[in-house]
Amino acid sequence: MILGVNVDHVATVREARGETEPDPVVAADLAVRGGADGITVHLREDRRHAQDRDLITLRRKMSVELNLEMAATNEMIAIALKVKPDLVTLVPEKRAELTTEGGLNLKKYRKKLKSAIDAIQGKGIPVSLFINPSVTDVEVSKEIGASMVEIHTGLYANAGGKKQTEELKRVRSAIKKGVDIGLLVNAGHGLNYVNVKKIASIKGIRGLYIGHGIIARAVYDGMQKAVREMKRLIKGSCK
Ligand code: PXP
Repeated sequence: MILGVNVDHVATVREARGETEPDPVVAADLAVRGGADGITVHLREDRRHAQDRDLITLRRKMSVELNLEMAATNEMIAIALKVKPDLVTLVPEKRAELTTEGGLNLKKYRKKLKSAIDAIQGKGIPVSLFINPSVTDVEVSKEIGASMVEIHTGLYANAGGKKQTEELKRVRSAIKKGVDIGLLVNAGHGLNYVNVKKIASIKGIRGLYIGHGIIARAVYDGMQKAVREMKRLIKGSCK
């Protein structure tokens, strides 16, 4: 099972100050050193975190899978065809959302998604659809030609107790359906160090795509070292 690490959150911190650091490309390199099998970047229409230059640099530098998350718009399709990531994950995108809030609405956007899949896969780039944990949505994804799906685990991650058990069941059924009908099946959203095990133990998953939980842990794990180093510099410079 591969692990794709989403570095958007690093870009969010950078953009908050309009600085050059922290650089998501440097974070991606460190993630790979830590064992990441892939790097994900979501190029949003409003460019609120990752920028086009990040995507281009990642494409140039990454030897692991580069997964471009994007909305199925003409602008994004043109970028994907130019940059040629290893994988495109189509996601719904709302301007005001803090993060991707749910899976794609396959019923409403079936035609638009099919044409995006045809355009991108026609150029040899596999397309994954980020979908809700629904057996029907898995079937529709196959019908419209996607080679992969990513099952949205956000509801499972945010639920507790009985509700979480129910959500886990829905995730499991969707994954099983996908595997049974010959799709490559990924999962992601909201996964962290507490809730990942139950998802990772489901048979048939190709990969997990995780961002926020890993970046949050990286901040905690790096804090002592960062402060210690600053203290050392200050102490060494004090007259
Ligand atoms: N998969 C998709 C399609 C996403 O949109 C996101 C969030 O950018 C993730 C996975 C990772 O979610 P999280 O940051 O909650 O781990």
